[in-house]
Amino acid sequence: MVREIVIWPDPVLKQVAKPVDRVDDGIRRLLDDMAETMYAADGVGLAAPQIGELLRCIVIDTSPRQEGQRLIHLVNPEIVEADGTTTYTEGCLSIPGEAEEVERAAKVRVRALDREGAPFELECEGLLAIAVQHETDHLDGVVFVDHLSSLKREVIRRRMKKLKSERATETADELRRAVAHKSAL
Ligand code: NI
Repeated sequence: MVREIVIWPDPVLKQVAKPVDRVDDGIRRLLDDMAETMYAADGVGLAAPQIGELLRCIVIDTSPRQEGQRLIHLVNPEIVEADGTTTYTEGCLSIPGEAEEVERAAKVRVRALDREGAPFELECEGLLAIAVQHETDHLDGVVFVDHLSSLKREVIRRRMKKLKSERATETADELRRAVAHKSAL
């Protein structure tokens, strides 16, 4: 099921997500919803807090931008090694329409549980390494604009507030139209 993506700033995006105790059907359903939501929004990655679930779950799919990649599920991910630095112009599904350069480690090694609850480790570089760092940040209540200057962050914050109020107005208009339509029957 495609879920609604929380738009920054929002208190849920500032909280530290809880570790998953057991990878059961409920968690697999959450991972499936996350993947569907990510694909529907044309994203490369999504963290559970972005759909309002404070659990340490991530989905990433950097294909076709990165060859040989596919959908990966990471439960309780932990970056155990990081090497080098790189900059990449990042965006975020919770901060639509914004993109800024962020400095990250060029390579990371991540340890996590898979969709079946089995532990694995993954060497990541390129876009995958960036996505892993961006998404694990989300689990710790950090978004990419937290890596920018406070000036840039405040400009983006104002634009997001405007976007949210526009969306709220649209929703109210739709509701009014629906009600008007019903009473016209
Ligand atoms: Ni993001």
